[in-house]
Amino acid sequence: MSLPEKIEVSADRKYPVYLGAALEDLGGYIHSLPDKVEQILVISHKKVADLYLERLMTGLGDYTVDLMIVPAGEEEKSLDRLSRLTTDALGFGADRKTLVIALGGGVIGDLAGFFASVYMRGIRLIQVPTTLLAQVDSSIGGKVAVNHPAGKNILGAFHPPVAVWTDFRTLDSLPWIEVENGLAESIKHALITDSDFFSFFETQADSIKRRDPVIWREMVARSASIKVRVVSQDEREQGIRRLLNLGHSFGHALETEMNYRGVTHGQGVSIGIVAAAFLANAKGLITLNEVERIKQVLRCYDLPTSISRQDPHALLQRMETDKKNQGGRKILILPQGIGNAVVSKECKDEEILDAWQKVILEDN
Ligand SMILES: NC(=O)c1ccc[n+]([C@@H]2O[C@H](COP(=O)([O-])OP(=O)(O)OC[C@H]3O[C@@H](n4cnc5c(N)ncnc54)[C@H](O)[C@@H]3O)[C@@H](O)[C@H]2O)c1
Repeated sequence: MSLPEKIEVSADRKYPVYLGAALEDLGGYIHSLPDKVEQILVISHKKVADLYLERLMTGLGDYTVDLMIVPAGEEEKSLDRLSRLTTDALGFGADRKTLVIALGGGVIGDLAGFFASVYMRGIRLIQVPTTLLAQVDSSIGGKVAVNHPAGKNILGAFHPPVAVWTDFRTLDSLPWIEVENGLAESIKHALITDSDFFSFFETQADSIKRRDPVIWREMVARSASIKVRVVSQDEREQGIRRLLNLGHSFGHALETEMNYRGVTHGQGVSIGIVAAAFLANAKGLITLNEVERIKQVLRCYDLPTSISRQDPHALLQRMETDKKNQGGRKILILPQGIGNAVVSKECKDEEILDAWQKVILEDN
């Protein structure tokens, strides 16, 4: 068995991200923590627990472990679910020494993380991400949240984990549609920071689609390292972390306009990246050739680069309520060539409309 690679998030509080770790070894790591753990709550989905709890439990034999199963779905990131978790945790006798393990994708990570951030004013958390999106993105950076009827992630906190424990083998069971959500974020990481990594996505498409384990290992490790680097520089999203929102203002507008039906988050981000690239081209930040390269790489992974039957004006309207806007001005992240991105506060509505039009297909 190869040893996991350890990289450190050096934010307000440092914490390690273990890449290529084995679920079976997590118990040994918990034993080594300086503050004794007396009880563990594992929060997961049934499907994920059925697949991976047994392996996780191999190392946790010395602890009292209670399992809390949450139904799958974004709607479970709710105050109602938080309240139920609290009732269950109290029933299990969880106290301030209890450790929460979030075993799952971004939904579990955000929900279990938010629960850990508020239960008895905050208890320890270990993120054990099992989706590509969670391994390269959501488990790293300390953001945790639940949704409110008024919007996604409206109630949240920064609650950095004790550690992120990433077992690449959990990705073997991930359906391709979920892989796509993570790929959209990984390609975005490459586009905003690393042209060489962008070329990796261009040249390794066959291996990635075949799920070649060596190439996947490299892809997840490089992408997670980018997230670690960015949040280490700017944990609270005052500067460089904002670049991670590339494609999300457009994508989120599309997701909400379509009522979260017929477009996944990854697909929304993919189309959003292309719209942002067209806008960047109009501003002279990127060539049409580079826009074409971006479209091409997304298409390689079956990610969409356009959408039909949408009203650009309605989509522009949706962007009015973006959390990132400041003083009524839309703040957009635009690629600058391949491997770089900038924050733009100077995008006029006509330019944004134009970018939307370029990704909306005319119906015959
Ligand atoms: N906190 C952050 O910084 C951050 C960043 C990006 C996204 N997010 C959040 O992440 C969430 C999306 O996360 P996601 O894309 O991981 O979706 P998800 O957590 O809903 O997981 C998708 C599906 O995959 C299943 N699954 C998980 N692991 C599996 C495995 N190994 N094998 C088979 N099936 C598995 C889950 O049960 C679920 O049905 C959103 O709520 C989003 O807001 C948070």
